[in-house]
Amino acid sequence: MVFSQPAGFATALLLITPYTPNIVTVETTPGCLTDNFYGTYGGRSVFRLSLPCLDSSSFHGLDEASLVPYEANGDRELIWLQEAAIDSALVTPEYQAEVQDFFRWLEEDGHIMGSGQQLSGHQQILSAADPGIELQLVNIQPEGGSYGLIAIEPSLAPSIEALLPRYWKPYTLPKQPSSYLPVPKPALEHVRNLLETVRFDPTVSSVVNSISLIQMRKDIRWLTGEDGVSGIVSRHSFADGSRVAAAWLKERFEETGATCELKPFMRGFAPNVACKYSASVDTTATVLISGHYDSRGSFGSQRAPGGNDDGSGTIALLGIARAIANTGVKFRSNVELVAFAGEEQGLYGSKAYAREMRQKNANITVMIQADMLGYHAPGEPPQLGLPMYIGTVEVAQLVSNMSAIYSPELTVGYTAACCSDHQSFHEQGFPATQVFERAGPIADPMYHNSADLSERPGYDLSQIRSIAKVQFATLLHAAGFDFSDDEDLK
Ligand SMILES: *[C@@H]1O[C@H](CO)[C@@H](O)[C@H](O)[C@H]1NC(C)=O
Ligand SMILES: *[C@@H]1O[C@H](CO)[C@@H](O)[C@H](O)[C@H]1NC(C)=O
Ligand SMILES: [Zn+2]
Repeated sequence: MVFSQPAGFATALLLITPYTPNIVTVETTPGCLTDNFYGTYGGRSVFRLSLPCLDSSSFHGLDEASLVPYEANGDRELIWLQEAAIDSALVTPEYQAEVQDFFRWLEEDGHIMGSGQQLSGHQQILSAADPGIELQLVNIQPEGGSYGLIAIEPSLAPSIEALLPRYWKPYTLPKQPSSYLPVPKPALEHVRNLLETVRFDPTVSSVVNSISLIQMRKDIRWLTGEDGVSGIVSRHSFADGSRVAAAWLKERFEETGATCELKPFMRGFAPNVACKYSASVDTTATVLISGHYDSRGSFGSQRAPGGNDDGSGTIALLGIARAIANTGVKFRSNVELVAFAGEEQGLYGSKAYAREMRQKNANITVMIQADMLGYHAPGEPPQLGLPMYIGTVEVAQLVSNMSAIYSPELTVGYTAACCSDHQSFHEQGFPATQVFERAGPIADPMYHNSADLSERPGYDLSQIRSIAKVQFATLLHAAGFDFSDDEDLK
């Protein structure tokens, strides 16, 4: 058996395992897993196995792994389809019907398990002339957190998101497996030092408390189009509104003293908005905080206001930037604030950005993505959720400890909701985590919905501000800071 044959025909075996933070400890034959990494998706990691590595003595502790034969014609793109971790309250008959329709669509004409037949005429979005989608389904589970693999014609990959049930997201697997890049020991040591030196600092407290709730309300209403001023209908990565938002964000960040760039990463997509504050001392150290400004609406609707997903993370960034300007903070390290696009289609914007940072050998000491900060179920206290699966546990611990000090009103816990832009940085071996609205699965009934507005029950601006305070305090602690001389300090 060979794995690479001529004439565009390829056969491979994919090993799918529950997420193991330290893969090196699992393999007994060096390189079998660590040199054949395809990424981690929804709490599972994917590897490509070579024949010698098929011997089960090559690993230990991989009991729950599954092996998936993969065959496809031509250079099809492999897409991992992942259902989000959602609260049972979101599993409505409407959603179940949507999923069943989707499964039926997948199963029609025997598309399951690598039959490799072509689909046609199913969807408006994919034209009938499409060369087709081949489906390789693995473990579509009846309960939440299902996942599957499909192989599609590469040009269809960027828009496949539009076909999925509302709580499902696509992640494109890389064309070739790569080396598993763990966060280097010195980088972890640096984060541990930051953790050990966490203390209440009244100056940090006053700086983070200067984030303005009133301004955040104005900003979110502009981004969603609720204020009737911006004219934004959708911030979907392919919509005009996302480009309007990108230009506006760049201007707002620049007003705070940052140097910004609109960075295109793929044709058809709105650009990343990347902003920098330069270091006051000579250092390579860079602290990066981020959110994604693109959004997703309901199937068949043009409207995608993204008030929570991820307008909330975007106004947190903006609130932090405005507070940097108002208080005259000057960072000792380099600081980047990045609003990504292409998150909903599979982290395209952040993958390009993180890859570039890795190629430049950037020294990102801490990365924190804010995605969905605004919602908690009625009656629940304000919360902060940290990722259970993807990210650097030391960074999550640091954020957790900062939260206890600067936003004690937040109940901190872990969430299975996953896979936002911090994953792209974690994959490149940078210390990264995410802040999220809930210490549990997603409960926002307007998740991936055209009614994801900022004025609705359960949307809690003060929770967004509390989480932004934590993100900001961690930034101040990790980067170090002084004040510019011409500022009157309070
Ligand atoms: C971080 O918080 C945990 C849990 O409250 C606590 O046990 C630990 O001592 C804290 N670490 C530091 C360095 O403050
Ligand atoms: C990255 O920055 C940290 C903090 O300043 C520093 O300790 C470390 O040596 C730097 N790493 C590299 C590879 O330059
Ligand atoms: Zn999001």
